[in-house]
Amino acid sequence: MLHTQFCTCRCSLTHNFFLKRFSLHVTYINKSQFIQEYSKDKVNIPDFDPERAIPEIEEEFQRRKQYHTDSWARRESIVNEYDRLHPQLWRVKPSYFAPEFLKLVEESKNTSSVDSLKSFLTNHGDRIYSIPVFTPAFCKLLVEELKHFEASPLPKGRPNTMNSYGINLGELGFDDFISTLRLEYLMPVATVLYPDWVGDSLDSHKAFVVVYKEGQDVDLGYHYDNAEVTLNVALNDNYSEGDIYFGGMRGEEETGRVKGGYSHQLGRGLFHRGRHMHGALPITHGERYNLIIWMRSSSVRNVECPMCGDVPNLTPVENGYGDGFTIVSTQVCTLS
Ligand SMILES: [Fe+2]
Ligand SMILES: [Zn+2]
Repeated sequence: MLHTQFCTCRCSLTHNFFLKRFSLHVTYINKSQFIQEYSKDKVNIPDFDPERAIPEIEEEFQRRKQYHTDSWARRESIVNEYDRLHPQLWRVKPSYFAPEFLKLVEESKNTSSVDSLKSFLTNHGDRIYSIPVFTPAFCKLLVEELKHFEASPLPKGRPNTMNSYGINLGELGFDDFISTLRLEYLMPVATVLYPDWVGDSLDSHKAFVVVYKEGQDVDLGYHYDNAEVTLNVALNDNYSEGDIYFGGMRGEEETGRVKGGYSHQLGRGLFHRGRHMHGALPITHGERYNLIIWMRSSSVRNVECPMCGDVPNLTPVENGYGDGFTIVSTQVCTLS
């Protein structure tokens, strides 16, 4: 019998530490490597002092080291103790989706040609596409639920390494919802749009809601995602500005071409490749809730880790999807 063990890559403890104040991603192996590699003359950012950055990196290192264990513990206490405001949200219903999206999904199951999906999607160039995904009514219920959870005393983890505010939907018990969404709705679409990044299957995900608000996070630095394919859906519309912009691909020479200006619309989702570099401009008023689904393909990432660019150095996790890498082993069953 084949047994799949989900894993992380060891680089999660050394790569892509984000220093928000300097909008800088760094690699931290140890103090002397870091001080040498990011000396003031090499980094060339005013006020940057590598020695002063070390405590922040070490704190993030500890968070990451414990992340999967802590996240699973939060999930267990939330499942047991959280009093759901809209319990119906935990199960996928076709009525939650925009009619255009349901048509796109059906068409995707019958074709392998991107051209035959183009009449459903708005094409933003560079294989970036948008379409209404959820109804405004569903978005409203979900934001109400998220605010209800935020107001509860239950434990909350940061959604990812770059956003300080938001909610990990796995911890809130939405993994079954997101798995159904991924396998029955999103994977057929992604298989046509990005067959090169779906591999054998989009077999895991990380899903979270990021919150941008005046006085908290208002923008997001330039980055790539720990995903093969990303879907980003705007859940509300009471904010101003905050467009997403795109550049080149991870690991490729930057050409300086930054494409600006995708403005979010309520319920509308934006599909892009995880390796497509992007950022979010500041919102100038209000608060914004965005649902982000990072879809991952173990058959793709087992060959090359998207975060360090090498063959992943795997560490199994006890529960959950880890970072979407897998080891498949043969379990020998014995009868006695
Ligand atoms: Fe992103
Ligand atoms: Zn890696």
